[in-house]
Amino acid sequence: MAQHSKLTVDFAGLGIPPGNYALPAPGSYEDYDRLLKHFKGELALADLAPDDVRFLRSHFSEQVAEHQQVAMDYFTARVPRRFATAYPEEQASEWALGFAADRHAVKSLLLIGPTGVGKTHYAWSVLRAVAESGTQLRWQMHTAVDLYASLRPRDGEDSQSTFERIADAHLLVLDDLGASKWTEWVEEITYRLINHRYEECLPSIFTSNLAPAKLRDALGERVASRLTEMCDRIVLKGDDRRKGGAK
Ligand SMILES: Nc1ncnc2c1ncn2[C@@H]1O[C@H](COP(=O)(O)OP(=O)(O)OP(=O)(O)O)[C@@H](O)[C@H]1O
Ligand SMILES: [Mg+2]
Repeated sequence: MAQHSKLTVDFAGLGIPPGNYALPAPGSYEDYDRLLKHFKGELALADLAPDDVRFLRSHFSEQVAEHQQVAMDYFTARVPRRFATAYPEEQASEWALGFAADRHAVKSLLLIGPTGVGKTHYAWSVLRAVAESGTQLRWQMHTAVDLYASLRPRDGEDSQSTFERIADAHLLVLDDLGASKWTEWVEEITYRLINHRYEECLPSIFTSNLAPAKLRDALGERVASRLTEMCDRIVLKGDDRRKGGAK
């Protein structure tokens, strides 16, 4: 049963992906009282009439299609041309569904592997899968270098509100962690960001081409320790795909 404020709907039983949907309005269906019993948890899906189930499925399917369109538009507007055809493998799709179902329960991902093995491609494939799920949760994707550039204090710019917007993203992808020059300021920002997401159980996808021990050296013990606890590690292996004649 999925929670919908105080009312519930058996979305799984209806074959509807998890999401935040509007219930049918009273009066939109002649046996609305029976539906209401289902929403109140008093009547299981299996005990509704077949027409009730058909009505509910069609009502929510329309919203799924709308949500998917909005989520795909968000993705299409942001994905770089090179990664526009990064399609998710099963593991990536499963992660995205877990995120859509409960963003605080899903573990973060740490994608590691040498240069050109496909880490950024993988991260974008997860974002495509997130879009395909139709979730209304929003993601942000930044390379670590760009992130630091956008957070550097500048006259007239409120870098604290930028920090909060990024730190509170429903899903944050941080590409190329550990690739930047390590200064005290970078260390502090990285720690604040990762610690915030760690404390609030907010999912992130990190990529790095540093091996775990080097990553620990590069990011420091406190950040590395949090990453270990919050992330499932995915190690990508193979050759530099760019040498294989990628366009
Ligand atoms: N699974 C894949 N299928 C097809 N092409 C891929 C795949 N993974 C990566 N590529 C292509 O290989 C090239 C390198 O991939 P990508 O940029 O993701 O590597 P990376 O591991 O992020 O490298 P770096 O560490 O330098 O950032 C890109 O052109 C990408 O589109
Ligand atoms: Mg990359």
